[in-house]
Amino acid sequence: MSTTTQHTAHAAGTEPGIETIRSFPKVELHVHVEACLSSERIEELAAEFGVPMLRPAESLFDYSTLADFLAVYEWWCDLLRTEVIAEQLAYDAAAQLNEDGIVYAEVLCGPRYWPHLRREPLIEALATGFDRAHRDGHADCGLTPSISREQSPEWAMGLVEWLGASGPPRVVGLGLDGNEELLGRTSPKFTEVYARAADLGFGRTAHAGESSGPEGVWDALEHLHLDRVDHGVRSIEDPALLEHLAEQEITLNVTPTSNVITGLYPDVDHHPVGPLIEAGVPVTINSDDPKAMKVTLSGEFAAVSRSLGWSLADVAAATRRAVDAAFCDQEKAASLHRQVDDHLRDLTREPAGKDHHP
Ligand code: ADE
Ligand code: ZN
Repeated sequence: MSTTTQHTAHAAGTEPGIETIRSFPKVELHVHVEACLSSERIEELAAEFGVPMLRPAESLFDYSTLADFLAVYEWWCDLLRTEVIAEQLAYDAAAQLNEDGIVYAEVLCGPRYWPHLRREPLIEALATGFDRAHRDGHADCGLTPSISREQSPEWAMGLVEWLGASGPPRVVGLGLDGNEELLGRTSPKFTEVYARAADLGFGRTAHAGESSGPEGVWDALEHLHLDRVDHGVRSIEDPALLEHLAEQEITLNVTPTSNVITGLYPDVDHHPVGPLIEAGVPVTINSDDPKAMKVTLSGEFAAVSRSLGWSLADVAAATRRAVDAAFCDQEKAASLHRQVDDHLRDLTREPAGKDHHP
């Protein structure tokens, strides 16, 4: 656990309620599709394939370290064995996000966690599920395939070349994740891969500054030329890095409860989300692993609002930062900004009471 001072929690009073947050049109940039699988669905798949449960469903999602979490993650992902399962998982994820009031998301998928499927049919199946979900009115989801840090640069380059040549249009960016504490400084080996992804027009993001300290964020920025960072929270320990992130407008996609669950901070009141924003760093709020960590984006906004005394205007500002950092085209970004504007306008419009209609 990193050492932090406790940040001042603001007095309660003006924070929006969970229903107000849920009905707000939100955007999420850091959410893993594999972590949108419910424990009930995992039990169903385990029964279908005759695999004994790792532990009872009620305690399956209890962990205390990132290493423990990723080991369990790998276990349940082994049950994701067919393209039909992948397509349905993507569909269900977009439906879940929609239920939580998310209108647009960029969803990470890690081919390394799908040992039964080749990466190309996997990504196509996920994109097909997102297409079907969007047609049915659920969240509009872009896809961000994510390299695992232990994978080879050759494997990763093959992925990027395929995405550029014939990947589905829903793929908007490239990600990188894994346990940096265990794997060490792995960003340099992906320099060429990230450069090629940028040449092909993909956005660049990577997990860093979660299981690594600020040096992991510096490494990722230097070698991968990131547009945004997933987590990046330990940047708070390096004032020069904070200044760099603010100056270069590099967005941190933070995930407060996930960081608490993996033992980085004792609770949301000790999370550096507030000080990062005060330092001028563009910060977005995210769920990371909704089902697998029993969180929702609305719940994350509610927790941050409670801790920092946020009003709905702060929720709107964080949403606008997410739109600005999204890898979608300008037309979609403009439409998302309009949705936020319209929602805020509708909320401030006086309700038509009988006094106005004599
Ligand atoms: N893969 C899925 N969730 C992750 C996390 N929080 N950190 C690193 N890799 C991950
Ligand atoms: Zn993540």
